Amino acid sequence: MPNERDNSPATPDSSHAGTVSRRSVVTAGAGLAIGAAVPKLLSGTGAQAQVTNGTPRTLIIASHPYPDRSVVNRALWEPAQAADDTMFKNLESVYGDNLQGFDRTAERRLYQSMERLVLMFPIHWFNMTPMMKAYMNEVWGSGAPSELRGKELLVVTTTAGGPDAYRRDGRLGFTIEEVLTPLRASANYTSMIFSEPLAFLGAAGAGAEALRQYQDTLAARLREAPRKA
Ligand SMILES: Cc1cc2nc3c(=O)[nH]c(=O)nc-3n(C[C@H](O)[C@H](O)[C@H](O)COP(=O)(O)O)c2cc1C
Repeated sequence: MPNERDNSPATPDSSHAGTVSRRSVVTAGAGLAIGAAVPKLLSGTGAQAQVTNGTPRTLIIASHPYPDRSVVNRALWEPAQAADDTMFKNLESVYGDNLQGFDRTAERRLYQSMERLVLMFPIHWFNMTPMMKAYMNEVWGSGAPSELRGKELLVVTTTAGGPDAYRRDGRLGFTIEEVLTPLRASANYTSMIFSEPLAFLGAAGAGAEALRQYQDTLAARLREAPRKA
């Protein structure tokens, strides 16, 4: 259920960034500048390629192919970047749109101390974003990385379709949980614990108050301890 807006791809941010430490931040650059339509609570917040707070037990991988047009995911990146004991990484900010540019060894090293992996992306054509899919292909490979075993997988996603559309008897004929079946299967295959996804349905065009609620909901979820087998 794509928006009726112009969907032509924006130029991805081209600034790449390295690793940083406690509340350490890498700013992605001008490609992610805040648009006029974005509420004030977001203004002044640079979109960051990678942020580490404390000792990361949660690794948050975010992706959006058109970050300069994003409102909802960009709002969600704020609590994701601010959460304690997390590392936040924005794929397009680090790797641009290079589907094969991942540093597999470095990415997998991040799993060693991690207890929870969070994948954040907007639903585009009932699927994850191209860079999120490429991340899985390139970093996980075709096998099941042993570093993932027993760790929690939390999917955080946003849609334009509302709760009435994402129903078996709704327009789409599938629930969001069903749309996310490939990720659930991936969790099963890698022996991860698939948590109930945090899906913000009907989120496109959300106003400031709704965005604040989404941010609070995500912040609260990230404060919960990682689930264990
Ligand atoms: C190319 C494209 C495809 C989309 N496909 C879907 C879709 O399949 N289902 C849906 O509910 N929304 C779809 N949307 C709407 C987005 O999910 C929605 O705009 C997004 O989650 C809002 O977050 P953002 O402001 O961070 O972009 C699509 C949007 C675009 C641009």
